[in-house]
Amino acid sequence: MVARVADSADLQGMRAAGAAAASVLEMIAEHVVPGVTTDHLDQLCHHFIVDELQCIPAPLNYGGGGGQIPFPKSICTSVNHVVCHGIPATAKTLKSGDVLNIDITVIKDGYHGDTSKMFFVGDASVLAKRLSRITQECLYRGIEAVRAGARLGDIGYAIQKHAEANRFSVVREFCGHGIGKVFHDAPQVLHYGRKGSGMVLEEGMTFTIEPMINAGKRHIKLLPDQWTAVTKDHKLSAQWEHTLMVTQTGCEIFTLRNEEAAWSTRLQTASAT
Ligand code: MF3
Ligand code: CO
Ligand code: CO
Repeated sequence: MVARVADSADLQGMRAAGAAAASVLEMIAEHVVPGVTTDHLDQLCHHFIVDELQCIPAPLNYGGGGGQIPFPKSICTSVNHVVCHGIPATAKTLKSGDVLNIDITVIKDGYHGDTSKMFFVGDASVLAKRLSRITQECLYRGIEAVRAGARLGDIGYAIQKHAEANRFSVVREFCGHGIGKVFHDAPQVLHYGRKGSGMVLEEGMTFTIEPMINAGKRHIKLLPDQWTAVTKDHKLSAQWEHTLMVTQTGCEIFTLRNEEAAWSTRLQTASAT
């Protein structure tokens, strides 16, 4: 079943879960510095999620069906050529020039909030900064395609067009997803596609958009840990993610951060006219 907000309790629940997830990304920013391990970032987030927010970190022990290994940590940390689902490790010390995605999913009162962003450790290369910026723009263009009556394919089309116009490629093996009381629900939100294709969006539907964009070719491979996805050509990959709800005129982003306020005001002004 497609995830959707059915009543005001659902709406309040999704707003609270989204705000909580966003606050974890805001909290962790100052800790992303040279010399820190990704395991330490995981511990800081875990304690903040559990003790300050009174939430459950959804990734911890997630999966594990069908012989898969459950995810062993509370957040995903995907460094440099890691596309997604990087596992925090004491052996992974960040150094100046690294770029990473931190992906946070919390469960608050039964509702999920799922969001991620890129961080630069010390000084990032010109390429890393450009890839990260274009990927964030891809997320925003996908979001701008959302409104009741639009189609899922409009989102993928907007993302793919912007990525490829900048000579980057779109990862196809992972997609956005319906979200609510369930972490990964229908629909699948592809980050590539054709305008006017796919499911018609209806008011109240809740899903994520989370484009993974590669500096080189789109192909990926899975490491033996069965979680970590890396680029086949070992070139950089970036990802940004929001959880949102479809409205008549656009969408409500549940995981918005303060630093995005100016952009979202522009978006709402544009959709109102
Ligand atoms: N947060 C990821 C997503 O955006 C999923 C992580 S599942 C995990 O869908 F098990 F790897 F944590
Ligand atoms: Co997600
Ligand atoms: Co996520």
